[in-house]
Amino acid sequence: MGERALVEVRNLTKIFPGIRALDDVHLTLRCGEVHALIGENGAGKSTLVKVLTGVYTPTDGTIALEGSEVSFKSAIDAQQAGIVAIHQEASMFPELSVTENIFMGHHLRRGRARTLDWKAMRTQTEELLARMQLDIDPDTLVKNLSTAKRHMVEITKALSLDAKLVIMDEPTSALTAREVEDLFRIVRSLKEAGKAILFISHKFDEIFEICDYYTVYRDGQYIGEGRVDQSSEDQIIKMMIGRSIDQLYPDHTPTLGQEILKVEQLSQLGAFKDVSFSLHEGEILGLFGLVGAGRTEVARTIFGIDRASGGSISFDGKRFEPKSAMHAMKAGIALVPEDRQRQGLVLKMSLTHNISLPVLKTLSAKGVVTTKKREQRYVLEHGQQMEIRAAGYHVDAETLSGGNQQKVVLAKWIGTKPRILILDEPTKGIDVATKAAVHQFICDMASQGVAVILISSELPEILGMSDRILVMHEGRQMAILDASEATAETVMRHAIATVREEVHHG
Ligand SMILES: Nc1ncnc2c1ncn2[C@@H]1O[C@H](COP(=O)(O)OP(=O)(O)OP(=O)(O)O)[C@@H](O)[C@H]1O
Ligand SMILES: [Mg+2]
Repeated sequence: MGERALVEVRNLTKIFPGIRALDDVHLTLRCGEVHALIGENGAGKSTLVKVLTGVYTPTDGTIALEGSEVSFKSAIDAQQAGIVAIHQEASMFPELSVTENIFMGHHLRRGRARTLDWKAMRTQTEELLARMQLDIDPDTLVKNLSTAKRHMVEITKALSLDAKLVIMDEPTSALTAREVEDLFRIVRSLKEAGKAILFISHKFDEIFEICDYYTVYRDGQYIGEGRVDQSSEDQIIKMMIGRSIDQLYPDHTPTLGQEILKVEQLSQLGAFKDVSFSLHEGEILGLFGLVGAGRTEVARTIFGIDRASGGSISFDGKRFEPKSAMHAMKAGIALVPEDRQRQGLVLKMSLTHNISLPVLKTLSAKGVVTTKKREQRYVLEHGQQMEIRAAGYHVDAETLSGGNQQKVVLAKWIGTKPRILILDEPTKGIDVATKAAVHQFICDMASQGVAVILISSELPEILGMSDRILVMHEGRQMAILDASEATAETVMRHAIATVREEVHHG
């Protein structure tokens, strides 16, 4: 492992109106080292990334690159100095092609006229994608790619820049297990090539697998650092939140009410086929599968966003054909979507309005919000339940940290008092402490008789939370397992389709 410090962050402070996002922090990044930056939601990790890459100007403090002080005016500036980042929230141009995105800010040119050399850029993109073993057409518009593929293109872009420091802010949250392996293979080769890598993740198994060193921040402050192989998970969690966590998954004994939903042979052309299950009040049904298995599409169909091409849904024993999300909502269904930035939140709206949006009608008399107080009380109650951390409820959702945005999306749906709650990757990007709180909340909802469909790519979460588990693979229902008979191995084997059993209709 290299010993030379590539980047030294000293006494760095970043203040936003009403919030000290970073308060006198330190960080030392060395060549040939994968360095984890660890902290709760809102600890200041992404802010540091944005200061390092010239997106934000620090309020105070210094950054030294190879011994000399630098101050970047823009991301392009930082990029030219050899620092690139894959940001937590997609930062690509959806209307441009993969090639155009990869070469944005460092176009290849040729000849004396320095005209853009699209042919060379396209060829290089093809080579880079091949090196990443990615099956992506360089001419595809980024908006047509899945979230996972978009992330991979961003990583490909970082490679194309031949950076000295590659920063990855929660790069794996939308990747399948196999894609994570691919990513780690690339991280290792970057490390061998002497690059410094700053890696941000809430997943401890990843940190222990790929990182050499770590630094912990809490509430914008530096807490400590150390070698990963000389520390335990419990030690690091204690540094992170100031205490240990005894239980990630609550004990949950379901008390099942009547059947509320029955889905029979539900199909949607090109997305999924013949999905059948029933759901009872008070039940948590886990929907497991790898990214691309069709789980989100099933949820969207039940919620009325997409139309089914075959099969049927009954709700309370009556045939149910949701015509729109509004229709499904009125019937008592809520869906917490996976992509919070595009579907879950209005980024340019305050937290208050985001949270009260689905219930504005009920909060207001005759269609007008008569009592602002009533709205505020409502928002506060549900916000606190989710432990949202922000400068206040008046700030725009976009100023929140990634994990806190996710909490707003959850808070937004609690109050709609749904009878069926569908959660699509609800703990994506949520730190380990808050995760336990979200799990408790899901169980509380179930205990109150709400029927829950929990979509997750995290096997421990599915196993820890579900009463029954429906496993999908490439749009097909592979099995419905009782939680008592399900093990990580059986569920995974169904998900990757190495077994094909008789499909149970539960
Ligand atoms: N542009 C901004 N304007 C105002 N406040 C901001 C802005 N960006 C971040 N913050 C605030 O700074 C704090 C740190 O946020 P940051 O995004 O760095 O957290 P994080 O450690 O990356 O968290 P997460 O794990 O949730 O991604 C948060 O309280 C956040 O609300
Ligand atoms: Mg962040």
